[in-house]
Amino acid sequence: MKPVAVSHRTRASDTTRSLEKYYALHAHIYDATRWAFLFGRSAILEVARSAAPAPLRILEVGCGTGRNLIQLARLFPHAQLTGVDLSAAMLNVARRKTACYGPRISLKAQSYHAPLGRTGGYDLVLCSYALSMFNPGFEAAIASARADLKYNGHFALVDFHASRWPWFTRWMQINHVRMDGQLLPLLRENFTPVIDHIRPAYGGVWDYGLFVGRKKD
Ligand SMILES: C[S@@+](CC[C@H](N)C(=O)[O-])C[C@H]1O[C@@H](n2cnc3c(N)ncnc32)[C@H](O)[C@@H]1O
Repeated sequence: MKPVAVSHRTRASDTTRSLEKYYALHAHIYDATRWAFLFGRSAILEVARSAAPAPLRILEVGCGTGRNLIQLARLFPHAQLTGVDLSAAMLNVARRKTACYGPRISLKAQSYHAPLGRTGGYDLVLCSYALSMFNPGFEAAIASARADLKYNGHFALVDFHASRWPWFTRWMQINHVRMDGQLLPLLRENFTPVIDHIRPAYGGVWDYGLFVGRKKD
């Protein structure tokens, strides 16, 4: 039988639909549960601040329920923040939590696979536990972040890296997360590393990465 050709676009929209379904359920318990395994989310903001002390325009890709946007708004009181996410359910939570910041925080409901193209660009693009869920599409998201950054802008990432335990990698796959160690090498090719650390979680059940890089010319 002739193999059925599955285009990248079809796979990407299938993934988008299944992530939307997944987060329609998880949005309700997300903030109460993720502190136990999304390590390094506060650390990456401090690290980004030491690399880029006064960013005026910040984009968070895959902003989820808005936890980082709120911390960024506090850390950078003069910054305008944009969050983009494909999940309407996650953005509904984010909208409630960020309402008190008014127009300083704007939220966009869309998949991030092409640059937003904001005039003037962003000083800082943050991806916090988002790119590991871009399956497929993390290469396009990294290229888009590069295009969305200003000259000398910074890209910051905290995310799952890899696990030496196949059962854990499989479990994470069921939860839409890739743990194949491919993100950090691609970031090193696209940005000049300023901070590049791999840290163990739960005594080495998995590793996560903290990366800040400057846009290459
Ligand atoms: C694990 S959550 C991280 C949320 C937040 N950044 C945090 O640190 O808590 C991953 C988020 O990425 C979003 N996401 C996944 N693929 C995406 C895509 N292609 N475009 C935009 N958002 C995406 C999901 O909807 C989800 O809200």
